[in-house]
Amino acid sequence: KTQQLIDSFGRRVNYVRLSVTDRCDFRCVYCMSEEMTFLPRAQVLTLEEMGMVARAFTEMGVEKIRLTGGEPLVRRGVEQLVDEIGTLPGLNDFTMTTNGASLRKHAKRLRQGGLTRLNISLDSLDPGRFKRLTRTGELAKVIDGIQAAKEAGFERIKLNAVILKGRNDDEVLDLVDFSRDEGLDISFIEEMPLGDVSDHNRDETYCSSDEVQAHIERRYPLIPTTEATPGPSRYFKMADSESRIGFISPHSHNFCSSCNRVRVTVEGRLLLCLGNEHSVDLRAVLRRYPGDMDALKEAIINALPKKPERHHFTTDGDVQVVRFMNMTGG
Ligand code: GTP
Ligand code: 5AD
Ligand code: SF4
Repeated sequence: KTQQLIDSFGRRVNYVRLSVTDRCDFRCVYCMSEEMTFLPRAQVLTLEEMGMVARAFTEMGVEKIRLTGGEPLVRRGVEQLVDEIGTLPGLNDFTMTTNGASLRKHAKRLRQGGLTRLNISLDSLDPGRFKRLTRTGELAKVIDGIQAAKEAGFERIKLNAVILKGRNDDEVLDLVDFSRDEGLDISFIEEMPLGDVSDHNRDETYCSSDEVQAHIERRYPLIPTTEATPGPSRYFKMADSESRIGFISPHSHNFCSSCNRVRVTVEGRLLLCLGNEHSVDLRAVLRRYPGDMDALKEAIINALPKKPERHHFTTDGDVQVVRFMNMTGG
């Protein structure tokens, strides 16, 4: 009989976010500082170790795995990991969050490996602005990557836009129209205080989901979708489109009571909540008892009581999580 993962507050963990690399070819202003240094190879889980972690979780009832980064597609061999996870029994949702820049090269292969959905970050439709927000990103490549993903036949593609006041808050409607035209979903995200990115003062650029929503509703009335999605996104539809619009609002709409997820960082730290540092070192277990599935599962089960009831992000910078977003994968 399989052990299920239930935490102290009765929440069932059925979703794992696995960060496969801390590296990225972009340097988004809300995610990284300009002169990031990356982890030495030895500290990073091998692809074999990641595969084993994924298998342990699915054997304990996890049905959904998302690969994140950094940028997952800069990790060499990630295709093989996708193939391996794609065959795990019990998985009914297998997805990746990517910056989209190299999807022209990878999309088809990923789809064949069993990835069902993709989330692609897109914060601006203006090339100059896109460059300023990502520092090194090329808008045209991402747009082409989105096309490649559509051609590869993913079941659903969702865009992610982090909205910052004064930088891209005037593009909300353009992003919605782009999603409608392309048949994509889109989520608007409030910036989270992870890592000292020092590009901007996060109090000055804070833009609440309610403001974004009000702005959209001036053109498109939004209808809440009935399908309950456990997790942070609140989804809406428009009357005349299949596209869904989501809001991820860590500041203004707390969603912790329905949290169904844990994360594994690229170093193999099992993080119980994005908003604090409680974690368990799975890498130590993997390397002390190589190949020992039972030891790994026991470490995961013992970690669950550390999952806190809620995060404590505030807009006044009360809790600054020192970990950068690229180590966690969001
Ligand atoms: P689903 O996995 O389908 O729910 O999609 P998602 O939108 O959660 O995943 P994605 O990787 O696209 O992340 C979008 C944004 O949601 C990122 O900014 C994440 O950091 C944020 N996010 C995802 N899960 C959590 C969470 O548990 N807590 C908080 N505060 N933010 C989260
Ligand atoms: N706050 C909110 N979202 C962030 N992302 C990266 N850093 C932050 C942050 N500080 C988002 C990106 C990407 C996803 C993985 O996380 O937009 O879509
Ligand atoms: Fe790279 Fe994603 Fe971070 Fe941007 S948000 S720097 S694309 S990992």
